[in-house]
Amino acid sequence: MYRTNTCGELRLADAGKEVTLAGWVQRTRKMGGMTFVDIRDRYGITQLVFNDEVNAALCEQANKLGREYVIQVSGRVSERESKNKNLPTGEVEIIVSDLQVLNASMTPPFTIEDNTDGGDDIRMKYRYLDLRRAAVRSNIELRHRMTMEVRRYLDSKGFLEIETPMLIGSTPEGARDFVVPSRMNPGQFYALPQSPQTLKQLLMVAGMDRYFQIVKCFRDEDLRADRQPEFTQIDCEMSFVEQEDVISLFEGMAKHLFKTLRGVELTGDFPRMPWSEAMRRYGSDKPDTRFGMEFVELADVLKGKGEFAVFNDAAYIGGICAPGCASYTRKQLDQLTDFVKRSQIGAKGLVYARVQEDGTVKSSVDKFYSQEVLQELKGAMNAAPGDLILMMSGDDVMKTRKQLCELRLEMGNRLGLRDKNKFSLLWVVDFPMFEWSEEEGRLMAMHHPFTHPKDEDIPLLDTDPAAVRADAYDMVCNGVEVGGGSIRIHDPELQDKMFRILGFTEERAQEQFGFLMNAFKYGAPPHGGLAYGLDRWVSLFAGLDSIRDCIAFPKNNSGRDVMLDAPSRIDQKQLDELNLNLVPLKE
Ligand code: AMO
Repeated sequence: MYRTNTCGELRLADAGKEVTLAGWVQRTRKMGGMTFVDIRDRYGITQLVFNDEVNAALCEQANKLGREYVIQVSGRVSERESKNKNLPTGEVEIIVSDLQVLNASMTPPFTIEDNTDGGDDIRMKYRYLDLRRAAVRSNIELRHRMTMEVRRYLDSKGFLEIETPMLIGSTPEGARDFVVPSRMNPGQFYALPQSPQTLKQLLMVAGMDRYFQIVKCFRDEDLRADRQPEFTQIDCEMSFVEQEDVISLFEGMAKHLFKTLRGVELTGDFPRMPWSEAMRRYGSDKPDTRFGMEFVELADVLKGKGEFAVFNDAAYIGGICAPGCASYTRKQLDQLTDFVKRSQIGAKGLVYARVQEDGTVKSSVDKFYSQEVLQELKGAMNAAPGDLILMMSGDDVMKTRKQLCELRLEMGNRLGLRDKNKFSLLWVVDFPMFEWSEEEGRLMAMHHPFTHPKDEDIPLLDTDPAAVRADAYDMVCNGVEVGGGSIRIHDPELQDKMFRILGFTEERAQEQFGFLMNAFKYGAPPHGGLAYGLDRWVSLFAGLDSIRDCIAFPKNNSGRDVMLDAPSRIDQKQLDELNLNLVPLKE
């Protein structure tokens, strides 16, 4: 038997017991004739003691242990003289009588401690060592507990867990596909699923009624802190449901997760906000509602009321009021201006106005506006003495709102208003059905082409498709889209019409979605569903800045696995078998 107990288990009540532990050497300390070794495993750390006077040979052996050696020790549990209150096992130590080295270790490239000295790249390369650190391991443990609670909840609601294939056909909407060449079908490719969307709909046609799957999804898109090329969805679908049924069941699941994993009891219904309102008030379809600083539209107050051409020519002028920031220095304001001008945000500039202690307003555009107009601005912004008004404008309403949204989030960060222990959830509803794609020069489905339009907007499909709203909903928490779904089209005629509006010819729709359209001809029930982003939920609960930290083996920002060194070239034999020919890369 390798061990009688784990390294996180022993307490004062165990004093006097003979035990055997196995684990990794966290560190060794020599103090006079005594050697102390911390032994670590997944469950915790226990102190081992070796006494030179009692057993010199054993102590000598302990002194030779290096960091991360794998050892097995036997000994007696004993009360510690100087107790460590920070450690659950801190009241005891093991007086070791036998030590076996099970495996030696090279010196690790970084310290296996909470505050490690290892940078990002090196920790990713040696991810199996990084995972030994309690801080990373606890995220993986939380992830496990979350999937268990998800299964428990959905099982109690009658959902069946069903696996869908990973090698499927390419779907054109949404992100780019990852493709896999088929050896048995030369020149043909599978695609890895961006989500099991069409398959779960087929499971509804098959009468499965309630499906879920904790499933890997693959999307070849640019990476961000909350995006990985392969990530995990809690994917669900239900038959004979309306939006209200789906929302209520998954709000219940969110509450269950908060209660069981965070000890937070969420009462009452989550607020719902139409997409258009979210854009107007926050410039985002995933507003961070932990704090105010909402947008105020200022065209009525400022347009044509002074000589400032930038505002007079703008399609949109919006402002936010940063409480207590009138004292910002020139340097701080320049930093904010540089922030909005960064290429990722792309604004042309930032206009500010300080409300002074005597109530007068001093702005960066004083020479263009009378104090009277500036007082009106103060009123519109509901600004008090000491507040700072920040304004942005532009020709493109949506684009300018998005830029102002970035500024609002930045101010939220600067003012400490984005507390990781505060959770603010809402549903964003009534999304537009379509959005215009400059790149494609056509309307694209905002969610996906299977989303049902709102019943009352169906007549607009023929007259004004851009105005049609969808039966789609996203759950948002602290500015993160943690899930999204919709009621689906189950009528083949309506689905046909949708494909036509999206610019598919009949042949292309048939070629790409024929399997679904055909299935719909055999009695498809009304259905709808949702997918939660598991990685995003875990990182939200763990207070992480990036979803990478809750994934055992994540990719870096260039989509590489630096530990496995993937992607990589394949040899000529494999290429030949797959009937693939590589052309030289263009510069
Ligand atoms: P959607 O594309 O909104 O919907 O995805 C659902 C949820 O998955 C998470 N997510 C991601 N997480 C990490 N990295 C990514 N690259 C990534 N992309 C998405 C988000 C998101 O809310 N088939 C539909 C669902 C449905 O209609 O039922 C779908 O995939 O949390």
